[in-house]
Amino acid sequence: MTGPLLDVRHLSVEVAGRRVLHDVSIAVDVGGSLGIVGETGSGKSMTCRAALGLLGRIGGAVVAGTATFAGRELTALSRDGWRAIRGRQIGFVPQTSMSSLDPVMRIGRQIEETVRVLDPGADARARSLELLEAVELPRADRIVRRHPHELSGGMRQRVMIALALAGRPRLLIADEVTTALDVTVQRTILELLGNLRRQLDMALVLVTHDLAVVESSCETMAVLYAGATVEAGPAGTLCTAPSHPYTRALIAAQPLLTDGGPLASIPGAPPEAGTPHDGCAFAPRCSHADGLCLGGTLALEPVSAGHVVACRRVREVVR
Ligand SMILES: Nc1ncnc2c1ncn2[C@@H]1O[C@H](COP(=O)(O)OP(=O)(O)OP(=O)(O)O)[C@@H](O)[C@H]1O
Ligand code: SF4
Ligand SMILES: [Mg+2]
Repeated sequence: MTGPLLDVRHLSVEVAGRRVLHDVSIAVDVGGSLGIVGETGSGKSMTCRAALGLLGRIGGAVVAGTATFAGRELTALSRDGWRAIRGRQIGFVPQTSMSSLDPVMRIGRQIEETVRVLDPGADARARSLELLEAVELPRADRIVRRHPHELSGGMRQRVMIALALAGRPRLLIADEVTTALDVTVQRTILELLGNLRRQLDMALVLVTHDLAVVESSCETMAVLYAGATVEAGPAGTLCTAPSHPYTRALIAAQPLLTDGGPLASIPGAPPEAGTPHDGCAFAPRCSHADGLCLGGTLALEPVSAGHVVACRRVREVVR
Protein backbone atom coordinates (compact mmCIF):
# COMPACT_ATOMS: atom_id res chain seq x y z
CA MET A 1 0.00 0.00 0.00
CA THR A 2 1.26 3.49 -0.78
CA GLY A 3 0.05 6.61 1.01
CA PRO A 4 -1.29 7.07 4.53
CA LEU A 5 -3.25 4.37 6.37
CA LEU A 6 -5.97 6.89 7.29
CA ASP A 7 -6.28 9.86 4.97
CA VAL A 8 -9.04 12.39 5.63
CA ARG A 9 -9.27 15.28 3.17
CA HIS A 10 -11.41 18.42 3.28
CA LEU A 11 -14.02 16.70 5.37
CA SER A 12 -17.27 18.53 6.12
CA VAL A 13 -19.86 17.13 8.51
CA GLU A 14 -23.35 18.28 9.39
CA VAL A 15 -25.32 17.28 12.46
CA ALA A 16 -29.04 18.08 12.37
CA GLY A 17 -28.47 20.57 9.57
CA ARG A 18 -25.63 22.36 11.41
CA ARG A 19 -22.12 22.36 9.93
CA VAL A 20 -19.81 21.11 12.70
CA LEU A 21 -16.76 20.30 10.55
CA HIS A 22 -16.10 22.33 7.43
CA ASP A 23 -12.60 21.46 6.24
CA VAL A 24 -10.74 18.83 8.25
CA SER A 25 -7.71 17.11 6.76
CA ILE A 26 -5.66 14.61 8.78
CA ALA A 27 -3.44 11.67 7.85
CA VAL A 28 -1.60 8.93 9.69
CA ASP A 29 0.85 6.46 8.17
CA VAL A 30 1.00 2.72 8.70
CA GLY A 31 2.46 2.31 12.20
CA GLY A 32 2.58 6.11 12.58
CA SER A 33 1.34 8.36 15.36
CA LEU A 34 -0.72 11.53 14.97
CA GLY A 35 -1.77 13.94 17.71
CA ILE A 36 -4.92 16.00 17.14
CA VAL A 37 -5.14 19.17 19.23
CA GLY A 38 -7.47 22.17 19.48
CA GLU A 39 -9.70 23.94 21.97
CA THR A 40 -12.95 22.46 23.16
CA GLY A 41 -15.54 22.29 20.37
CA SER A 42 -12.92 22.49 17.59
CA GLY A 43 -14.07 19.18 16.12
CA LYS A 44 -11.60 16.60 17.44
CA SER A 45 -14.19 14.05 18.57
CA MET A 46 -16.40 14.70 15.56
CA THR A 47 -13.43 13.87 13.30
CA CYS A 48 -12.96 10.58 15.19
CA ARG A 49 -16.67 9.81 14.84
CA ALA A 50 -16.47 10.41 11.09
CA ALA A 51 -13.43 8.10 10.77
CA LEU A 52 -15.33 5.38 12.64
CA GLY A 53 -18.69 5.70 10.87
CA LEU A 54 -20.41 6.81 14.08
CA LEU A 55 -22.04 9.99 12.79
CA GLY A 56 -25.39 8.33 12.04
CA ARG A 57 -25.93 7.69 15.77
CA ILE A 58 -26.11 11.44 16.44
CA GLY A 59 -27.99 12.36 13.25
CA GLY A 60 -24.82 13.49 11.48
CA ALA A 61 -23.42 12.85 8.00
CA VAL A 62 -20.40 13.63 5.85
CA VAL A 63 -21.51 16.31 3.36
CA ALA A 64 -18.20 16.88 1.53
CA GLY A 65 -14.65 15.57 1.40
CA THR A 66 -13.13 12.12 1.49
CA ALA A 67 -11.76 9.69 4.06
CA THR A 68 -9.83 6.59 3.06
CA PHE A 69 -8.50 3.75 5.20
CA ALA A 70 -5.86 1.52 3.58
CA GLY A 71 -6.89 3.07 0.27
CA ARG A 72 -10.58 2.26 0.73
CA GLU A 73 -13.15 5.08 0.72
CA LEU A 74 -14.97 5.19 4.03
CA THR A 75 -17.63 7.82 3.38
CA ALA A 76 -19.52 5.52 0.99
CA LEU A 77 -19.46 2.42 3.23
CA SER A 78 -22.63 0.47 3.96
CA ARG A 79 -23.53 -0.66 7.47
CA ASP A 80 -21.88 -4.03 6.78
CA GLY A 81 -18.84 -2.29 5.32
CA TRP A 82 -18.41 -0.32 8.54
CA ARG A 83 -18.82 -3.47 10.61
CA ALA A 84 -15.72 -4.89 8.91
CA ILE A 85 -13.71 -1.75 9.73
CA ARG A 86 -14.91 -0.47 13.13
CA GLY A 87 -13.31 -2.38 15.99
CA ARG A 88 -11.56 -4.77 13.59
CA GLN A 89 -9.41 -2.40 11.51
CA ILE A 90 -9.82 0.75 13.59
CA GLY A 91 -10.02 0.43 17.38
CA PHE A 92 -11.54 3.26 19.39
CA VAL A 93 -11.24 4.44 22.98
CA PRO A 94 -13.96 7.12 23.17
CA GLN A 95 -13.77 10.30 25.24
CA THR A 96 -16.14 9.15 27.98
CA SER A 97 -14.93 5.58 27.81
CA MET A 98 -14.37 4.80 31.47
CA SER A 99 -18.05 5.31 32.27
CA SER A 100 -19.11 3.04 29.40
CA LEU A 101 -18.09 -0.16 31.20
CA ASP A 102 -21.13 -2.09 32.40
CA PRO A 103 -21.14 -1.57 36.19
CA VAL A 104 -22.83 -4.89 36.99
CA MET A 105 -20.81 -7.17 34.72
CA ARG A 106 -17.45 -8.66 35.66
CA ILE A 107 -14.50 -7.31 33.64
CA GLY A 108 -13.67 -10.76 32.22
CA ARG A 109 -17.16 -11.25 30.83
CA GLN A 110 -17.19 -7.78 29.24
CA ILE A 111 -13.93 -8.48 27.43
CA GLU A 112 -14.95 -12.02 26.44
CA GLU A 113 -18.19 -10.73 24.88
CA THR A 114 -16.24 -8.20 22.82
CA VAL A 115 -13.71 -10.85 21.75
CA ARG A 116 -16.56 -13.17 20.63
CA VAL A 117 -17.90 -10.44 18.35
CA LEU A 118 -14.64 -9.01 17.00
CA ASP A 119 -12.38 -12.08 16.97
CA PRO A 120 -14.73 -15.09 16.79
CA GLY A 121 -11.94 -17.57 16.01
CA ALA A 122 -10.16 -16.87 19.31
CA ASP A 123 -10.57 -18.67 22.64
CA ALA A 124 -12.45 -15.81 24.36
CA ARG A 125 -11.20 -16.54 27.86
CA ALA A 126 -7.55 -17.00 26.92
CA ARG A 127 -7.65 -13.94 24.67
CA SER A 128 -9.19 -11.80 27.46
CA LEU A 129 -6.30 -12.67 29.76
CA GLU A 130 -3.85 -11.96 26.95
CA LEU A 131 -5.45 -8.54 26.33
CA LEU A 132 -5.30 -7.60 30.02
CA GLU A 133 -1.65 -8.62 30.07
CA ALA A 134 -1.03 -6.57 26.90
CA VAL A 135 -2.32 -3.45 28.69
CA GLU A 136 0.08 -4.25 31.54
CA LEU A 137 -2.53 -5.05 34.18
CA PRO A 138 -0.87 -7.33 36.73
CA ARG A 139 -2.71 -10.47 37.90
CA ALA A 140 -5.09 -10.57 34.95
CA ASP A 141 -6.60 -13.77 36.41
CA ARG A 142 -7.87 -11.69 39.34
CA ILE A 143 -8.91 -8.64 37.33
CA VAL A 144 -11.32 -10.71 35.21
CA ARG A 145 -13.36 -11.49 38.35
CA ARG A 146 -13.69 -7.86 39.39
CA HIS A 147 -16.45 -5.34 38.67
CA PRO A 148 -15.55 -1.89 37.26
CA HIS A 149 -16.06 -0.08 40.62
CA GLU A 150 -13.39 -2.31 42.16
CA LEU A 151 -10.74 -0.87 39.81
CA SER A 152 -8.97 2.50 39.91
CA GLY A 153 -9.51 5.04 37.10
CA GLY A 154 -6.18 4.12 35.50
CA MET A 155 -7.04 0.38 35.62
CA ARG A 156 -10.47 1.03 34.05
CA GLN A 157 -8.83 3.02 31.28
CA ARG A 158 -6.47 0.08 30.64
CA VAL A 159 -9.50 -2.21 30.40
CA MET A 160 -11.02 0.18 27.84
CA ILE A 161 -7.81 0.04 25.81
CA ALA A 162 -7.86 -3.79 26.05
CA LEU A 163 -11.43 -3.74 24.65
CA ALA A 164 -10.32 -1.48 21.79
CA LEU A 165 -7.53 -3.96 20.95
CA ALA A 166 -9.83 -6.99 20.92
CA GLY A 167 -10.31 -6.89 17.13
CA ARG A 168 -6.53 -6.60 16.51
CA PRO A 169 -6.86 -3.16 14.84
CA ARG A 170 -4.25 -1.62 12.55
CA LEU A 171 -5.12 1.82 13.93
CA LEU A 172 -6.13 2.84 17.44
CA ILE A 173 -7.95 6.15 17.94
CA ALA A 174 -7.72 7.34 21.56
CA ASP A 175 -9.91 10.37 22.34
CA GLU A 176 -8.79 12.23 25.49
CA VAL A 177 -7.92 8.98 27.25
CA THR A 178 -5.98 10.64 30.04
CA THR A 179 -8.14 13.68 30.82
CA ALA A 180 -9.88 12.30 33.90
CA LEU A 181 -6.71 10.80 35.40
CA ASP A 182 -4.08 12.26 37.69
CA VAL A 183 -0.77 13.31 36.18
CA THR A 184 1.34 10.25 37.06
CA VAL A 185 -1.36 7.86 35.84
CA GLN A 186 -1.71 9.92 32.64
CA ARG A 187 1.99 9.37 31.97
CA THR A 188 1.79 5.60 32.43
CA ILE A 189 -1.23 5.34 30.11
CA LEU A 190 0.60 7.31 27.42
CA GLU A 191 3.68 5.13 27.82
CA LEU A 192 1.42 2.09 27.48
CA LEU A 193 -0.08 3.42 24.23
CA GLY A 194 3.42 4.06 22.86
CA ASN A 195 4.55 0.54 23.85
CA LEU A 196 1.45 -1.05 22.30
CA ARG A 197 1.95 0.86 19.09
CA ARG A 198 5.48 -0.50 18.73
CA GLN A 199 4.70 -4.05 19.90
CA LEU A 200 1.58 -4.45 17.78
CA ASP A 201 2.89 -2.43 14.82
CA MET A 202 -0.27 -0.36 15.06
CA ALA A 203 -0.89 3.26 14.09
CA LEU A 204 -2.12 5.65 16.78
CA VAL A 205 -4.28 8.78 16.69
CA LEU A 206 -4.13 10.58 20.00
CA VAL A 207 -6.68 13.34 20.66
CA THR A 208 -5.69 15.66 23.47
CA HIS A 209 -5.62 19.23 24.76
CA ASP A 210 -2.06 18.69 25.91
CA LEU A 211 0.61 19.71 23.42
CA ALA A 212 3.43 18.43 25.63
CA VAL A 213 1.89 14.96 25.30
CA VAL A 214 1.82 15.25 21.52
CA GLU A 215 5.40 16.49 21.38
CA SER A 216 6.64 13.53 23.41
CA SER A 217 4.34 10.80 22.03
CA CYS A 218 3.53 11.60 18.39
CA GLU A 219 5.44 11.88 15.13
CA THR A 220 2.93 14.21 13.48
CA MET A 221 0.31 16.66 14.68
CA ALA A 222 -2.82 18.36 13.34
CA VAL A 223 -4.28 21.53 14.85
CA LEU A 224 -8.04 22.04 14.53
CA TYR A 225 -9.84 25.35 14.88
CA ALA A 226 -13.60 25.83 14.53
CA GLY A 227 -14.06 22.62 12.54
CA ALA A 228 -11.08 22.96 10.21
CA THR A 229 -7.41 21.92 10.14
CA VAL A 230 -5.32 25.09 10.38
CA GLU A 231 -1.84 23.52 10.62
CA ALA A 232 -0.40 20.02 10.28
CA GLY A 233 3.08 18.54 10.10
CA PRO A 234 5.87 16.99 12.17
CA ALA A 235 4.98 17.32 15.88
CA GLY A 236 8.48 18.55 16.77
CA THR A 237 8.31 21.33 14.18
CA LEU A 238 4.82 22.47 15.22
CA CYS A 239 5.75 22.48 18.92
CA THR A 240 9.07 24.26 18.56
CA ALA A 241 8.48 26.42 15.45
CA PRO A 242 4.73 26.76 14.93
CA SER A 243 3.59 28.84 11.96
CA HIS A 244 -0.16 29.45 12.36
CA PRO A 245 -1.02 32.23 14.84
CA TYR A 246 -3.48 29.86 16.55
CA THR A 247 -0.85 27.13 17.04
CA ARG A 248 1.57 29.79 18.28
CA ALA A 249 -1.04 30.98 20.79
CA LEU A 250 -1.79 27.41 21.94
CA ILE A 251 1.89 26.78 22.52
CA ALA A 252 2.35 30.07 24.35
CA ALA A 253 -0.49 28.94 26.64
CA GLN A 254 1.27 25.67 27.57
CA PRO A 255 3.80 26.18 30.38
CA LEU A 256 5.71 22.93 29.76
CA LEU A 257 6.44 23.92 26.19
CA THR A 258 7.54 27.43 27.04
CA ASP A 259 10.18 26.45 29.62
CA GLY A 260 7.95 27.36 32.53
CA GLY A 261 7.44 30.92 31.22
CA PRO A 262 4.27 32.83 32.09
CA LEU A 263 1.06 31.14 30.99
CA ALA A 264 -0.59 33.10 28.22
CA SER A 265 -4.26 32.72 27.40
CA ILE A 266 -5.79 33.18 23.98
CA PRO A 267 -8.06 36.22 24.06
CA GLY A 268 -11.67 35.75 22.97
CA ALA A 269 -13.49 32.49 22.27
CA PRO A 270 -13.76 30.29 19.17
CA PRO A 271 -16.89 30.76 17.06
CA GLU A 272 -19.82 28.36 17.50
CA ALA A 273 -19.44 25.52 15.00
CA GLY A 274 -21.45 26.26 11.88
CA THR A 275 -21.30 30.04 12.29
CA PRO A 276 -20.57 31.46 8.83
CA HIS A 277 -17.35 33.46 8.71
CA ASP A 278 -15.82 35.78 6.16
CA GLY A 279 -12.30 34.57 5.35
CA CYS A 280 -10.23 33.31 8.30
CA ALA A 281 -12.29 32.02 11.25
CA PHE A 282 -9.45 32.96 13.65
CA ALA A 283 -9.34 36.62 12.51
CA PRO A 284 -11.33 38.09 15.46
CA ARG A 285 -8.71 36.63 17.87
CA CYS A 286 -5.59 37.06 15.75
CA SER A 287 -3.07 39.81 16.46
CA HIS A 288 -1.77 39.53 12.86
CA ALA A 289 -5.17 39.95 11.16
CA ASP A 290 -5.59 42.55 8.46
CA GLY A 291 -7.77 43.08 5.38
CA LEU A 292 -6.00 40.25 3.55
CA CYS A 293 -7.52 37.77 6.00
CA LEU A 294 -11.13 38.56 5.11
CA GLY A 295 -13.17 37.08 2.26
CA GLY A 296 -13.27 33.69 0.57
CA THR A 297 -12.15 30.45 2.18
CA LEU A 298 -8.68 29.55 3.40
CA ALA A 299 -6.75 26.53 2.19
CA LEU A 300 -3.87 24.59 3.69
CA GLU A 301 -0.67 25.55 1.85
CA PRO A 302 2.74 23.86 2.19
CA VAL A 303 5.39 25.86 4.08
CA SER A 304 8.02 23.08 4.18
CA ALA A 305 8.20 19.32 3.56
CA GLY A 306 5.14 17.69 5.11
CA HIS A 307 4.12 20.93 6.89
CA VAL A 308 0.94 22.78 5.83
CA VAL A 309 -0.65 25.95 7.20
CA ALA A 310 -3.93 27.77 6.49
CA CYS A 311 -2.93 31.41 7.02
CA ARG A 312 -2.71 34.12 4.37
CA ARG A 313 -0.06 36.07 6.29
CA VAL A 314 2.10 33.13 7.35
CA ARG A 315 5.30 34.67 5.93
CA GLU A 316 4.86 37.85 8.00
CA VAL A 317 3.84 35.82 11.07
CA VAL A 318 6.94 33.63 11.14
CA ARG A 319 9.37 36.39 10.14
N1 LIG B 1 -23.72 14.85 19.78
C1 LIG B 1 -23.64 16.03 19.15
N2 LIG B 1 -24.69 16.54 18.48
C2 LIG B 1 -24.61 17.73 17.87
N3 LIG B 1 -23.52 18.51 17.84
C3 LIG B 1 -22.44 18.06 18.49
C4 LIG B 1 -22.43 16.80 19.18
N4 LIG B 1 -21.21 16.61 19.73
C5 LIG B 1 -20.50 17.71 19.41
N5 LIG B 1 -21.23 18.58 18.67
C6 LIG B 1 -20.78 19.86 18.12
O1 LIG B 1 -19.76 19.63 17.17
C7 LIG B 1 -18.71 20.58 17.30
C8 LIG B 1 -17.41 19.85 17.48
O2 LIG B 1 -17.49 19.13 18.71
P1 LIG B 1 -16.44 18.05 19.18
O3 LIG B 1 -17.11 17.23 20.22
O4 LIG B 1 -15.88 17.36 18.00
O5 LIG B 1 -15.33 18.97 19.84
P2 LIG B 1 -13.97 18.53 20.54
O6 LIG B 1 -12.87 19.22 19.80
O7 LIG B 1 -13.91 17.06 20.67
O8 LIG B 1 -14.11 19.24 21.98
P3 LIG B 1 -13.67 18.70 23.44
O9 LIG B 1 -12.21 19.08 23.55
O10 LIG B 1 -14.53 19.48 24.36
O11 LIG B 1 -13.91 17.25 23.51
C9 LIG B 1 -19.09 21.47 18.50
O12 LIG B 1 -19.67 22.65 17.99
C10 LIG B 1 -20.14 20.69 19.23
O13 LIG B 1 -21.08 21.56 19.79
S1 SF4 C 1 -5.17 34.43 7.93
FE1 SF4 C 1 -4.95 36.36 9.02
S2 SF4 C 1 -6.38 36.25 10.73
FE2 SF4 C 1 -6.10 34.18 9.96
S3 SF4 C 1 -4.48 33.34 11.22
FE3 SF4 C 1 -3.49 34.20 9.39
S4 SF4 C 1 -2.94 36.30 9.99
FE4 SF4 C 1 -4.41 35.57 11.49
MG1 LIG D 1 -13.93 15.78 22.21
